[in-house]
Amino acid sequence: MRKPIAAANWKMNGNFALVEAFAKHAWPQGNVEKIFGLPAIYLTKAHEMGLAELAGEDVSAHVSGAHTGEISATMLKEAGASYAIIGHSERRTDHGETETLLIEKWKQLKAQGLKVIYCIGESLQEYEAGQCDSALLRQLNPVLDAGLVDADTVIAYEPVWAIGTGRTATPEQAQEMHARIRAFVASKYGQEVADNCSILYGGSCKASNAPELFAKPDIDGGLIGGASLKAADFKAII
Ligand code: 13P
Repeated sequence: MRKPIAAANWKMNGNFALVEAFAKHAWPQGNVEKIFGLPAIYLTKAHEMGLAELAGEDVSAHVSGAHTGEISATMLKEAGASYAIIGHSERRTDHGETETLLIEKWKQLKAQGLKVIYCIGESLQEYEAGQCDSALLRQLNPVLDAGLVDADTVIAYEPVWAIGTGRTATPEQAQEMHARIRAFVASKYGQEVADNCSILYGGSCKASNAPELFAKPDIDGGLIGGASLKAADFKAII
């Protein structure tokens, strides 16, 4: 059975002092898996100080070589990460990342035994036009067809209109989308894989709305941006 997950995504925030504060924090030791997605430059220190599990926020699609500024899956692993977030809407928008590229990134992670948090979600325009399903399928189908999803895969449903806006999907809306995502996975991989696949909600999730969201049967936890930058806030969500 799938495990509840609380995953932090610091994005381009934080500093060494915050890494130290998080590493020294007394995190709950229950059955919730905690994942800390940090800027790559902070992973080594976090790892050395015993913070776990760690996630990179992106990875290169290349193994190594002449790719200035890129960080490989091998490097993330050496720095102590066991996960990487790929396909975040901010990277899709800021860097024009496509499913074709994300498949290559996913393959690099898989080759190094790193687990994937794959982000999908519709834009405000798609939401208002009632095109949520086609947006999700556009982002999901290529990775499903590439045979990349497995029992370790975490999918994060992050409606773009809810990210950093304070506007959260209602628990009912989020549940409906999570159930659809699970059904899409089941249609290609069978019910057992779909039932084991953790699907996290992301988009203005915080301690005050997490209980209602996480109570829904297909919401297995959250990928948290703003509310993961203070240990007390993130702890409350856990
Ligand atoms: P916020 O929680 O700040 O809305 O960010 C969500 C997110 O993008 C996590 O990846």
